[in-house]
Amino acid sequence: MSRPANSDVLLAARNLSVRFGGVLAVNDVSFDVRRGEVFTLIGPNGAGKTTVFNLISRIYTPTTGTIAWSGPDRHVDLTQQAPHQVAGLGIARTFQNIELFEHASVLHNLLIGRHIRRETGLWADMLFTSRVRAAEVRARTKAEEIIEFLDLQHYRDTLVAGLPYGVRKVVELARALCTEPRLLLLDEPSSGLNVEETEDMAFWIQDIQQDLGISVLMVEHDMSLVSKVSDRVLAMNQGEVVALGTPQEVQAHPGVIEAYLGSIDEVASLRRPAGSAPARSAT
Ligand SMILES: Nc1ncnc2c1ncn2[C@@H]1O[C@H](COP(=O)(O)OP(=O)(O)OP(=O)(O)O)[C@@H](O)[C@H]1O
Ligand SMILES: [Mg+2]
Repeated sequence: MSRPANSDVLLAARNLSVRFGGVLAVNDVSFDVRRGEVFTLIGPNGAGKTTVFNLISRIYTPTTGTIAWSGPDRHVDLTQQAPHQVAGLGIARTFQNIELFEHASVLHNLLIGRHIRRETGLWADMLFTSRVRAAEVRARTKAEEIIEFLDLQHYRDTLVAGLPYGVRKVVELARALCTEPRLLLLDEPSSGLNVEETEDMAFWIQDIQQDLGISVLMVEHDMSLVSKVSDRVLAMNQGEVVALGTPQEVQAHPGVIEAYLGSIDEVASLRRPAGSAPARSAT
């Protein structure tokens, strides 16, 4: 596939649609993720955000549309790739519901995650060639590096099953980073976290962007986290794009307010003019 016109663009989704029976979960959605940016999808429940992630990671095939990926040496349409090829291109993700091996240690979860990025073939693996040994050493070095980067040293050998929820979220992030992605997809990184843990998550995301140089495509509901870390935001509702811009622009967009709160007229009618009787009595 030819390189997209703008070389700043890492991923270009064009006219994506997917239908599940009678539900048009994603309807003619287009957007670019630029190199080095944090690009965030927001929208009410059922807007189609996770479905966009599932189209990129090839869990679903779109009914229409293309997703151009512009890696350093390969330009491909992701919709034509198998899921394992997508991971191999440098796209990693975390899930809305954490997906880790509960009865393995943090370190082992990271090494298993790293296995996605196979550098050697089956025969080489079986014969444990020097290339396999070198790959194994690189995997361990990377895992230790990420453990240190995300401050997980204390939990390195703990089984995931014994970890608090907030730590598991960071371990899932670590697992994805171990594959050395160019693009990291984060599906609701703050869900289930308390205020302090959400603040930490914001720092991790900024460090991932700024220190590791990884582009991030995120789905998130917590607007303070969204505003803090996002370069640009795309708002969706009922499968469609409602607004695209800076976090401030998108939050102020009437279509976005309406999507979250119902019709603007209804919202306005609920507002009580100063001094008038409350719209509803407390009884
Ligand atoms: N595999 C599927 N089969 C049928 N319907 C699906 C499937 N996946 C998603 N949908 C539907 O597509 C729509 C969008 O779902 P999606 O999970 O993408 O929403 P979301 O924006 O991620 O919402 P939330 O904020 O609740 O996670 C919903 O109506 C959902 O029920
Ligand atoms: Mg979702």
